[in-house]
Amino acid sequence: MILLSVIGFLVVIYFAFQFLLWTVLDCDIELFLASFLGRPIRKLRGKVVWITGASSGIGRALAKVLATNGVRLVLTARNSRELEATKQECLSLSGGSLKADDILVIPLDMLKFAFHQDTFNRVIAHFKSLDILVNNAGRSQRAEWNKIDINVDRELFELDVFSAIHLSRLAVTYFEQNNNVLGQIAVTSSTAGYIGAPNSASYTGAKHALHGYFESLRHEKPNINVNIYCPGPTFSNFLNEAFVETPGQKYNQPVQSTDRRMTTDRCAHLYAVALANNIGLCWSGIFPINWISYIGLYYPNIKRLLLALIGTKRLQRIRDSQRYNNANDPSPA
Ligand SMILES: NC(=O)c1ccc[n+]([C@@H]2O[C@H](COP(=O)([O-])OP(=O)(O)OC[C@H]3O[C@@H](n4cnc5c(N)ncnc54)[C@H](OP(=O)(O)O)[C@@H]3O)[C@@H](O)[C@H]2O)c1
Repeated sequence: MILLSVIGFLVVIYFAFQFLLWTVLDCDIELFLASFLGRPIRKLRGKVVWITGASSGIGRALAKVLATNGVRLVLTARNSRELEATKQECLSLSGGSLKADDILVIPLDMLKFAFHQDTFNRVIAHFKSLDILVNNAGRSQRAEWNKIDINVDRELFELDVFSAIHLSRLAVTYFEQNNNVLGQIAVTSSTAGYIGAPNSASYTGAKHALHGYFESLRHEKPNINVNIYCPGPTFSNFLNEAFVETPGQKYNQPVQSTDRRMTTDRCAHLYAVALANNIGLCWSGIFPINWISYIGLYYPNIKRLLLALIGTKRLQRIRDSQRYNNANDPSPA
C-alpha cells in the first residue's frame, strides 16, 4: 500500500514537473537541454551550410548566428540586395573568422526549379562540399478555408513543399554520391506542421506535408540526418508576405511590435542549437505554444477537447499574438 502511494506520488510529481517545464520554457525540453548541455554551435565551425530564404526573418537571423560561430554560408533568396546586406552583417559578426569568399550569395527564386541544379553545381564548385542544407524559404497564409482558390493551394505547395523537396533531392543525391555519411538536411516547419492552424489551411497542409516527406527520408536514408524545426509565432516579415485566398495577392500586414512573439534572434539561436545537435524534431514558441505542442503531439484526444474549449477565434489570437480592443472584433484573418 505504501509502495503504491509512493509510486502514485512520484507520478504526480513527474507530471507536475513536466507541466511546469512546458509552461516556463520557450522550446521543447530536448532542445532546451541541448542549448545548455549539448554540442555548442561553434562545433559547426568550418562547415558549409546553405540557407534558403536567407534575405529576411528567421533565415537571415540563422545566417548571423552561424557566421558568429565561423560557419561558411551559402545564402539564397530572390532579393539580392538584402542577401548582400545579410552577407555584410555576417562578415562583421564573424569577427574576422570568415572572409568574403566564405559566404556565397546566389539569388535564387525557389519556384524556378530549372535553376536548382545549376545553383547546386555553383555551390559545390565554390566550396567543394556541402554539409547542411536548410530549407527555410516559405510563405505563410491568412485565408478562410472555403474561400481559398485552388490555385493558391497549388502556389503555396509549390513554394513551401515542392521547391524544398526538389532541392533536397539534389542534396541527398550529392551526399550519397560523395559517400558523405554526415549529410544533413534541415527544414523550417511550424507549429502548423503538427497542429491545424485556423485561417491557414493550405499552409497547415503544406507544413504537414513536409513532415511526411522528411519522415520518409529519415527512414529510407539512415545516413542522412534530418532536422525538422518548428517555430511558433516569431517576429519576421511573414505576415506581409502571407498568401490569402486569392492568387497573386498578399496579406500585407506587418507584425506589430506589441505582438507576443519570439524574437528572430532567439528563434535562430535555437535553430542553430538544433543543427549542431542534430535534433530530429523540435519546436520553439513562447507560452502557450509549448503547452499546445506537447498536448497536440502526445495527447491528440485531449488536444481536440482543449481546442474546442479554447475556440477558433482565441486560437487565432494566440497564433497571431495580437490584442484586440473590442472582444467582438472579427478574427484578423
Ligand atoms: N515567422 C513565423 O512566425 C514563422 C512561424 C513558423 C514557421 N515559419 C517559417 O519560417 C520560414 C521563414 O519565414 P520568416 O518568418 O522568416 O518570413 P520572412 O521574413 O518573410 O522570410 C521568408 C524568406 O523566404 C524567402 N522566399 C519567399 N519566397 C521565395 C521564393 N519564391 N524563392 C526564394 N526565396 C523565397 C524570402 O526571400 P525573398 O523574398 O528575398 O525571396 C525570405 O528570405 C518559412 O518557411 C515560414 O513558414 C515562420
